[in-house]
Order: sequence, then C-alpha cells, then structure tokens
Amino acid sequence: MERSVVLIKPDGLQRGVAGEIIHRFERKGLQLIAIKMIALDDALLDEWYAHHKDKPFFANLKAYMKSYPVVAMLWEGVEAVATIRKLVGVTKAREAEPGTIRGDFAMSQQYNLIHASENAEIAKKEESLMFSPSEVFPWKKTDLTHIYLDEELG
Ligand code: CMP
Repeated sequence: MERSVVLIKPDGLQRGVAGEIIHRFERKGLQLIAIKMIALDDALLDEWYAHHKDKPFFANLKAYMKSYPVVAMLWEGVEAVATIRKLVGVTKAREAEPGTIRGDFAMSQQYNLIHASENAEIAKKEESLMFSPSEVFPWKKTDLTHIYLDEELG
C-alpha cells in the first residue's frame, strides 16, 4: 500500500468543496487514515515547497497557503500517489480534464483547490512533515477484497 498527502487548500475550503473531494476519494476505494485542520506557517511552507523556492510565484504561493487554514489528509491505496494525481488533474485548473477535481471545480493555476503528493518519495517527506505517528490511524478496511485482487494487495 502507498500513502499520499492531500491538502484542501484555502480556496478549497472557501469554495466549499472539502466534502466533495473527500467523497470522490472514498468512492474511488481509497482509505482515509489521517485528517486534521491546520494553519500553515512559514517554517512548514519553506520545507513543503522547497522545490519552488526560486520560482517567481513562491512568495504569493506562501501568502495564499497561509491565508486560511487547510485540511490535511493522508490517503492510502495501491499506487495511491499516481491515482490521486489523476483524480486531481493538472496544476492549471482551467486546462484540467473534465471529471477531475480541478477540471470540474476550478479555473486558476494558483487557486487550484487541492495539493497532492507528487511522487512516493515526496509523499513520505510530506507525511513526516504534516503528521505525527499518533495522528495516523491505519485501520483495517474490511472491503479491500472487493476493491482489489489478492495479488494486487501483495
Ligand atoms: P501545486 O502544483 O499543488 O503545488 C505548487 C503550487 O504553486 C500549485 O499547486 C499552485 O497552487 C501554485 N502555482 C504553480 N504554478 C503557479 C503559477 N505559475 N502562478 C501562481 N501559482 C502557481
């Protein structure tokens, strides 16, 4: 099983799509193992977006991510990182495919509602930055045998 960190960004909260996003991931068969609301600060954002620190939009991105709280979640599933990125759609929301979260609900390249871990390595870093072990609940999901083949579960 793989884990992916998802943030419902300040605009996602303002736009009232938090429930819709959680609903889509649940219906897909992904498993929610951590969730909390958090106000992001400079220290965390500097680490989180270290790969964007030289980009011209970095200052705006940080200000936006600090403007209101975010909902932070940890989702688990087979190949969860790639699966969630497909459900989310591309960064520039007005070009995102219909049927994706950004494609259905957003227009902007900054106000794109949601963050999802880029790859498995970054997902691990984001999990340790965002959640303490006591905040993560790897509960036994009893319908996994109806979601995956045994060999997919490993
Ligand atoms: P995401 O891809 O989740 O992570 C980086 C974020 O920076 C991105 O979502 C947008 O919210 C923001 N971003 C990326 N590109 C731009 C841009 N060109 N202008 C403003 N914000 C951007």
